[in-house]
Amino acid sequence: MGTRPPDTGQTPLAQRLRLLPLHLRLWRNRMIAAPGFRRWIARLPLLRAIGNAKANALFRLTGGFIFSQVLLAGVRLGLYRALRDQALTTESLASRLSLPEERVRMLLRANAALDLLIEISPDLWVLDDAGVILAEDRGLDAMVRHHAILYRDLSDPDQLLRTGGAQTELRQYWAYVREMGIDGPKPVEVEAYSALMRDSQAMMAECILASHDFRQYRVLLDVGGGDGAFLAAAADAHTSLELRLFDLPAVAARAATHLDSLGLGERARVHGGDFSRDAVPGDADCVTLVRVLCDHDDSRVETILANLHRSLRPGTTLIIAEAMDGQSEGARLSAAYFGIYFLAMGSGRCRSAQEIAGFLSATGFQSIGIVATPNPLIATIVTARR
Ligand SMILES: C[S@@+](CC[C@H](N)C(=O)[O-])C[C@H]1O[C@@H](n2cnc3c(N)ncnc32)[C@H](O)[C@@H]1O
Repeated sequence: MGTRPPDTGQTPLAQRLRLLPLHLRLWRNRMIAAPGFRRWIARLPLLRAIGNAKANALFRLTGGFIFSQVLLAGVRLGLYRALRDQALTTESLASRLSLPEERVRMLLRANAALDLLIEISPDLWVLDDAGVILAEDRGLDAMVRHHAILYRDLSDPDQLLRTGGAQTELRQYWAYVREMGIDGPKPVEVEAYSALMRDSQAMMAECILASHDFRQYRVLLDVGGGDGAFLAAAADAHTSLELRLFDLPAVAARAATHLDSLGLGERARVHGGDFSRDAVPGDADCVTLVRVLCDHDDSRVETILANLHRSLRPGTTLIIAEAMDGQSEGARLSAAYFGIYFLAMGSGRCRSAQEIAGFLSATGFQSIGIVATPNPLIATIVTARR
């Protein structure tokens, strides 16, 4: 049966107690596997309801690839935006989305089954809670569109698990995970990912700014700061902060233009370089790494942190913010999602806060702390002192 206990030095009774949950689970699994038991469950109303809920959840999972394409169609067709702040009939949606009425009705019903829309009266539709977020959040909209790439990369998942993401579209997309020349990727190679990161920064920035007090700092440096979306949010919340950004040269050029366009040019200085080898500006009292370490394999994380340790003045606060593995449902979902995402990207992994703390400590950072955010699905924070 493969469940013989390893020799742990415990007494037989202690061993049996330790393995009790395992034996109960195996017994339960044998019962569920038996068709006769399932037929018996189906005859008892309360157990039938539990059984059906589990069957529905399994069906959602089995048909998940269809449902994620329903979502993609809704986003691309502008369905959720069309229903923002108003109810619309099937007929008027058909005309807005330029689709035959029967097909729109089918799409609308699928959306209602997925709790994205509500048919408030026959053929009259409004957004459900999740639909409202889809209509409002540009980042979520951008991520759903971006998933079209990942969807193609995942068409042969067992092969991907065998070989890793050496030849995937996702690896092409994220130019910096491939071999880079001395000047880094070209502007055209950073355009798509930088726009995606800017559009999807709002929820992340909200989580970070709600969880750590940035009022105590004078100069904030965002390393791997992309187009400057996090800096812009921090600048908005803390009007006396001076801003620094460090990213690959092609991205830094975009950030300078973006921050200028927001009227932040006077408060910001932008630097282009490679955070694994070049010195970053040393005048900041707070340095952030937002969604940066997760992109990189362990040895590169050590190199990046060691390089930052060399550049930063003693006393500087370092803040790592990204989705991290953990106990909460959000953290576990994030880890499941990013585990596959980074596999397809061929670089990086979703680490726990404790693992990140370990890297910080090994590279010489001190006073390491773990800070929960309002939403562990989006981010957890690890802080440290240089
Ligand atoms: C996943 S994006 C995150 C961007 C931004 N922090 C955010 O959360 O929106 C990672 C960023 O790290 C930058 N990056 C990657 N490798 C780098 C390197 N070697 N030196 C400097 N920046 C780098 C990328 O250009 C990109 O802007």
